[in-house]
Amino acid sequence: MPLKTFAPAALAAGFLLFSLNVLSAVPTPTPKSSVWVRYPTAPDKLSPAAALGKLIFFDATLSGSGQMSCATCHSPDHAYGPSNGLAVQLGGVDMKHAGARSVPSLRYLTFTPLFTRHYYVPASEDSDDEGPTGGFMRDGSMASLREQMAMPMLNPNEMANASREAVVAKLHRSPYSAAFARLYGANVWADPAKAFVHAGEALEAFETEDPSFHPFTSKFDAVMSDHATFSAAELRGLKAFSDPDKGNCAQCHVASPGPGGRPAAFTDYSFVALGLPRNQEIPANRDPEYFDMGLCGPMRSDMAKETQYCGMFKTPTLRNSAGRGVFFHNGVFHKLEDAVRFYSERDSNAQKWFARQSNGKVDKFNDLPKAYRINVDYVDPPFTHSPRKPVLRDAEIRDIVVFLKTLDDGFSSVPGGPARK
Ligand code: HEC
Ligand code: HEC
Repeated sequence: MPLKTFAPAALAAGFLLFSLNVLSAVPTPTPKSSVWVRYPTAPDKLSPAAALGKLIFFDATLSGSGQMSCATCHSPDHAYGPSNGLAVQLGGVDMKHAGARSVPSLRYLTFTPLFTRHYYVPASEDSDDEGPTGGFMRDGSMASLREQMAMPMLNPNEMANASREAVVAKLHRSPYSAAFARLYGANVWADPAKAFVHAGEALEAFETEDPSFHPFTSKFDAVMSDHATFSAAELRGLKAFSDPDKGNCAQCHVASPGPGGRPAAFTDYSFVALGLPRNQEIPANRDPEYFDMGLCGPMRSDMAKETQYCGMFKTPTLRNSAGRGVFFHNGVFHKLEDAVRFYSERDSNAQKWFARQSNGKVDKFNDLPKAYRINVDYVDPPFTHSPRKPVLRDAEIRDIVVFLKTLDDGFSSVPGGPARK
């Protein structure tokens, strides 16, 4: 896998300045309140398409069970992530069908770049190939939010509609049917394929326009705009998070502003095989022959032959991850501290994380077929072939957890604002 020397999104603005600050004793990160002016904030009033998309997002009658909407899995009270700690959610016509991946947050997806196998940092002449980057879903298989809608609507484990036509028939019967026709034309119901596309456009408008999808109201944002200060523990956590010799987390979970001074995304959208432990909570994993390998399938089918990518999943934002009850694509961890500790000890203490084979050997990277375990990242710290001891001390793990909590929205009532009264 290519060595990622630079986090792509970080380069465009202020990376050096910021990292110098972070590594010195007291990080006073560069962006001031002006960044909120430059960031294209959503209008207070949604466009008609976004307002319609909102109705669709919360409409449980659009599912085969009549009990499940987008919001059932992507709860607005949980940063549009899952409201429970289940590794995978139940859905389908009888609400008893389990999915195979944990539910991601839908916040801050707006800035996701298009999927590419080979990412080069824009406007940089000596950029290395950063490898696969971008796209929606944990395997980058969807090019846009509007197309993405078809997946949950038709997935037999999720909203379980029999066809696009079935979804459109429900939209036609909905209380907002007239609004739909006003927006997309009186004849819209005559062409279900087209009406389905329009529903996707409406959802996309809601997911990109509504401020609830990108509130930037975390303590981190308040500190960045000089409206709050980190505690000593939060600062220590940020340092361990950013330090290449400690967590090195910021290499992938970029902590510096993005293009145009946009607030840090805490992801570079890159794909990495972390070599997570297999999760027996996922019913599909009862079949020892079944492996969810991300980029190379089986959920994504177009890259099945590109086995060098087997095991790779997209780096998610860490904004609002502290409030989650389930971590990583397979939901194998339910405590943030365990997720952080895994990074620190994966290579120094593998027997703690991975089950043993019948011959007593630790089955390291047991959520991948043996042939593809070479794809697991050993290049980027904190991972290493030659571990002497855990990368992080217990106190550092605690500090990183404390820092990650500053990424949860809700500290301020306005983007980058002071603490809520
Ligand atoms: C049964 C639970 C469930 C329901 C209902 C559901 N989703 Fe999801 N959603 C998931 C899971 C699980 C994933 C991750 C799957 C993957 O990456 O393959 C996901 C991923 C996504 C993503 C991609 C996020 C990213 O990080 O790129 C978007 C966007 C999304 N869902 C939107 C929606 C919309 C819109 C609806 C309603 C039409 C919806 N979801 C309904 C479970 C659900
Ligand atoms: C080489 C890139 C890379 C580095 C370095 C890295 N991460 Fe990650 N991180 C990822 C990827 C990729 C995922 C998703 C993997 C998956 O689901 O299979 C992820 C997922 C996570 C998650 C789960 C989030 C969620 O919503 O489920 C947490 C928490 C996390 N990382 C924290 C950290 C911390 C803390 C560090 C530093 C100790 C760190 N990461 C270092 C790439 C990286």
